[in-house]
Amino acid sequence: MTPDPELLRERAASALLAARDRTRLLTTCVEDPDLIAQHSPLMSPLVWDLAHIGNQEEQWLLRTVGGRDALRPDIDSVYDAFEHPRARRPSLPLLAPDEAHGYVAEVRGRVLDILERTELHGGPLLDSGFAFGMIAQHEQQHDETMLITHQLRAGPAVLTEAEPLVVSAAEILPAEVLVPGGPFSMGTSTEPWALDNERPAHHRLVPSFLIDTTPVSNGAYQRFIEAGGYEDPRWWAAEGWTQVQEHKLHAPLFWKRDGGQWLRRRFGVTEPVPPDEPVLHVSWYEADAYARWAGRRLPTEAEWEKAARHDPATGRTRRYPWGDEDPTPAHANLGQRHLRPAPIGSYPDGQSPLGVRQLIGDVWEWTASDFLPYPGFAAFPYREYSEVFFGDEYKVLRGGSFAVDPVACRGTFRNWDLPIRRQIFSGFRTARDAEPAAGA
Ligand code: AVJ
Ligand code: FE
Repeated sequence: MTPDPELLRERAASALLAARDRTRLLTTCVEDPDLIAQHSPLMSPLVWDLAHIGNQEEQWLLRTVGGRDALRPDIDSVYDAFEHPRARRPSLPLLAPDEAHGYVAEVRGRVLDILERTELHGGPLLDSGFAFGMIAQHEQQHDETMLITHQLRAGPAVLTEAEPLVVSAAEILPAEVLVPGGPFSMGTSTEPWALDNERPAHHRLVPSFLIDTTPVSNGAYQRFIEAGGYEDPRWWAAEGWTQVQEHKLHAPLFWKRDGGQWLRRRFGVTEPVPPDEPVLHVSWYEADAYARWAGRRLPTEAEWEKAARHDPATGRTRRYPWGDEDPTPAHANLGQRHLRPAPIGSYPDGQSPLGVRQLIGDVWEWTASDFLPYPGFAAFPYREYSEVFFGDEYKVLRGGSFAVDPVACRGTFRNWDLPIRRQIFSGFRTARDAEPAAGA
């Protein structure tokens, strides 16, 4: 079925518009000094992200797709993420905030004109409007990055929730479910805006395993802390234990002990840690140590995707845990509608066929797996999106957080980061091998 070209154009235009609304929100809620400042050596100044968003759009949509003359070729190098590590970006000759706002608006005006005049077929960059979808995703990814910068920024709150989080009555759920062994189809060859590392679809044999019905909660994680988890090297991978000792880690990032209770800082507000929310801001090493302490392990990436997409009744792989429809607010906590994950057990309408909840949205989930290409991987359209990161240095995260827009979150979407990172919106769930059947 060939999608209606006007519908494709409309989808591309509204994805670009939604990303820009969010970028504007994140870059106008603070004054210029806070856009220029570096709030953490782990992050770029917000004004770097802003102009980088425009520069990436200029390179791909204006120059490559549109065939137009470059608008600002002189700034390509300043906004090249590979030339300048984040820690050094404040010392670059960056566009000032008003120049950066003007630049991204100028690029966007020309790009919308190009979108009107471009046939959305005739090659992999154009088919289904891929390049436009890729750039909308890129902007949304940097919006999440900027939200992380906001979380690291000291000072009073400037962000407000788009919608209050309505918490439904707690239900008794089984702690874990059995995912029966056998092959399933992982990845995608049909999702039009899937990025190169999600492709192609391929068969994976995944033996039976059990997986948590929900992400691990703050309350459960607190029991690990209180059981002396951070003082016992038995639970930790060697590099994780080194990190614990060097940085004197004793709790997730942004947590602080206050007498008898744990407090956390969340976008400028200090509040008690809610025990029923998924734990947030933990490194892969912390997730791995918790799982070992609990007598469990992290799920592999293939296990995570099978739990999220495989329908044991039909043997089919779905786009999302709930089926093939795009996410709605009833399915998942996505898109920065809320500035926090929802309590564990939320979103019954988003559960998988086996009853696994919150796989999409709320918190990025660390998996046991290194970031590696699928069999048949081909870098597209540029090696620096995924290929240069493949190897054993990075661990895969799945499912997206409350800060991910639906355009950049799919059952197949793969994120990755260094195992020491904890400023990202990361949590996890645990798994274990199934007992072999009696007599087997
Ligand atoms: C996929 C989130 C790891 O932010 O480094 C943004 C996305 N790539 N610009 C990142 C990305 C190029 C990437 N992650
Ligand atoms: Fe980027």
